[in-house]
Amino acid sequence: MSSKPRVVLGVGGGIAAYKACEVLRGLTESGHDVRVVPTVAALNFVGAATFEALSGHPVHTGVFTEVPEVQHVRVGKDADLVLVVPATADLLARAAHGLADDLLTNTLLTARCPVAFFPAMHTEMWEHPATRDNVALLRSRGAVVTEPDSGRLTGVDTGKGRLADPREIVDVARLLLARSDALPRDLEGLRVVVSAGGTREPLDPVRHLGNRSSGKQGYALARVAAQRGADVTLVAAHTEALPEPAGAEVVHVSTARRLGAAVEEAASTADVVVMAAAVADFRPADTADHKIKKTDHSPDPTISLVRNPDILAGLVEARRPGQVIVGFAAETGDEHGSVLEHARAKLKRKGCDLLVVNAVGEGKAFEMEENTGWLLSADGTEQRIPLGAKSLLAATVWDAVTELVRHRAHRQ
Ligand code: CTP
Repeated sequence: MSSKPRVVLGVGGGIAAYKACEVLRGLTESGHDVRVVPTVAALNFVGAATFEALSGHPVHTGVFTEVPEVQHVRVGKDADLVLVVPATADLLARAAHGLADDLLTNTLLTARCPVAFFPAMHTEMWEHPATRDNVALLRSRGAVVTEPDSGRLTGVDTGKGRLADPREIVDVARLLLARSDALPRDLEGLRVVVSAGGTREPLDPVRHLGNRSSGKQGYALARVAAQRGADVTLVAAHTEALPEPAGAEVVHVSTARRLGAAVEEAASTADVVVMAAAVADFRPADTADHKIKKTDHSPDPTISLVRNPDILAGLVEARRPGQVIVGFAAETGDEHGSVLEHARAKLKRKGCDLLVVNAVGEGKAFEMEENTGWLLSADGTEQRIPLGAKSLLAATVWDAVTELVRHRAHRQ
């Protein structure tokens, strides 16, 4: 038997079924054994042959094939994770009410592993009280039902109800396989702001001073927060390659000053602020309005820099009562101290509640899929975060934030 994690990919009958192929591809390429179980309606959108070729397994929709192997029970019981992509209104209703009229709904009843639904439907259907109740019922039983994205729907209409980006779905799958309890709805009712990416400071219309931050860690923080029920504003600097987290409002910025203004505005009504962005400490004193040319006789130019405001320090100063503020520190050890010693001093200096510390350099942290570090708390506790997906680190940060929020609510 294969030692790869076994994932059942349930596919509902909606136009977004074609995106299930990309999820399937992403999962098999990252070492998962995937069994596709579509509904009959799903096969109107994607043929069984496509799922069979991409998964390497036969595809059935009903319970009357492979009867001696008791397939309707075995598929669910053998799974390490069940995903439903897309989860249509009808499928959510059937799952919520325990119907078992095809192989997928049988599988949902027999699975004892984490189950995650990724809805896609028209806004009216998503907002209908029947769907709201079904989603609430499934969540109350421990299933993950993610918020759909907003944007272009099937026709010319736009609104909430778009399927989450397939890359995001693969990321959630990996997170749930690593930690089945990573996505509780414990951030419901909280407004959070996350900054991500790396700011750029222009020298002239074609050049800038920048940094190597990809934004992946900040995006993972925003994504996990949205999936845990928070109302999320993501302030993103140069993260064009990343899929926008479903359910988050994204504000794109470029310079440190723009990022500061956007974060401050969102923070004025937020319960939690996470500064994961790599913010330029300095900017060129002058920005040329034309391209700086080299000429044979002119001396080599010197760039003078001026300081950018420290956004995190400003947030701490303007902190609302009970607001939780999380900083990040990318550190290298040097002759003055180790990574952790620098980080402890930074936590004190910055005055935030939590500091996520990454050791950088030698290919660590920047542009990587995985991350590791420490989570330092103002009360002196220090937690080592083992190497894992950036969403796993995000889940650890949100666990600590919920603890703090709960603690503060208790004291009030
Ligand atoms: N940060 C900020 N504004 C800045 C620089 C940094 O808000 N102008 C935030 C970052 O988003 C991060 C934290 O401060 O959450 C620490 O960033 P880092 O660059 O490690 O800290 P610095 O204060 O710039 O310290 P150092 O002297 O080590 O560069």
